[in-house]
Amino acid sequence: MGFWIQALFSLFFQVLPLFFQVEAGHFHNASSLKGRKQVSGCNLFQGSWVIDASYPLYDSSSCPFIDAEFDCQKYGRPDTQYLKYAWKPDSCSLPRFDGVDFLNRWRGKKIMFVGDSLSLNMWESLSCMIQASVPNAKNTFVRKGSLSSVIFQDYDVTLFLYRTSYLVDIVRENIGAVLTLDSINAGNSWKGMDMLIFNSWHWWLHTGKSKGWDYMREGSNLYKDMDRLTAFYKGLTTWAAWVDQNVDTTKTKVFFQGISPTHYQGKEWNEPKKSCNGELEPLSGSVYPAGPPPAATVVNNVLSKMKKPVYLLDITNLSQLRKDAHPSTYGGDGSGSDCSHWCLPGLPDTWNQLLYAALVM
Ligand SMILES: *[C@@H]1O[C@H](CO)[C@@H](O)[C@H](O)[C@H]1NC(C)=O
Ligand SMILES: *[C@@H]1O[C@H](CO)[C@@H](O)[C@H](O)[C@H]1NC(C)=O
Repeated sequence: MGFWIQALFSLFFQVLPLFFQVEAGHFHNASSLKGRKQVSGCNLFQGSWVIDASYPLYDSSSCPFIDAEFDCQKYGRPDTQYLKYAWKPDSCSLPRFDGVDFLNRWRGKKIMFVGDSLSLNMWESLSCMIQASVPNAKNTFVRKGSLSSVIFQDYDVTLFLYRTSYLVDIVRENIGAVLTLDSINAGNSWKGMDMLIFNSWHWWLHTGKSKGWDYMREGSNLYKDMDRLTAFYKGLTTWAAWVDQNVDTTKTKVFFQGISPTHYQGKEWNEPKKSCNGELEPLSGSVYPAGPPPAATVVNNVLSKMKKPVYLLDITNLSQLRKDAHPSTYGGDGSGSDCSHWCLPGLPDTWNQLLYAALVM
């Protein structure tokens, strides 16, 4: 990329956001979700964590949908206090999750999570929360390739998971795997849903062997690499245009699952020698010392320019406080220390409570 374009982008990311602080947690231009904006001025995403003895909302051993990598209790996590935290918005209460009510509201409907393993985390959580409310209801559970599903047959409610790391396409060309910043052919699989919950970010950061592509392409320009926030901005802008063009938001509710933070670097919360390993408690209060990650600014920026109403589940700040909620060494897939995903039961249950609150409040 030319120097001037680079300079323009850094201007864009470092300076402009200061002038265009999007107030997060809002329906962006929304008459949206049929007028169900924040209730009486309550920002659901601003608050703190409190102990609630009635938590967790389900038991991992009775939920058939949890992957080993999130099943911390099964894989030996000795502490349990992390299961007991409830999110308390400063100026209202979250409605208690009611799985039967959820199923009745969405009877005959299709819901799809679209994104990476953080979408998987949230999809499994919602499936467990619902299943715990209707333990005897029939369900079918299919895991395969990029499209998995849980169907609650008695209610004809389907929860799909469409796995895609970047939302935009990866195309096999003879030069290798190409991340195409301006195409979403995969989007054809997302049509016809009644609710869509999107997420992407973590894979945009990967380097070396875990990088999912060999080149990036934008039109006829091929790049060996690019500033990753810039690439994310471009990819997410393509996604936003796809939603604006292809989703009838009078029929389909659209959510964006905000940026899920990691806790590999204790310096972010002023304990430089630490990571999520051995953390037993959230940070108290409402402020994460390092502030929100830059990717959250990209999300706010892109969503604020969309024509269609998309509800931002602004889970970044509240999740940043939960340094205690990761699998760390208790993810059952032997992948070392995971400070990126979240134990189930656990934090993604709160994301789903917020999703539920956005739908019913
Ligand atoms: C918000 O969306 C509505 C309906 O889609 C549209 O008519 C209106 O012009 C939009 N407002 C802004 C400020 O973009
Ligand atoms: C998240 O934290 C940032 C910085 O501390 C703040 O500006 C922003 O309003 C917070 N967002 C929410 C939803 O509370």
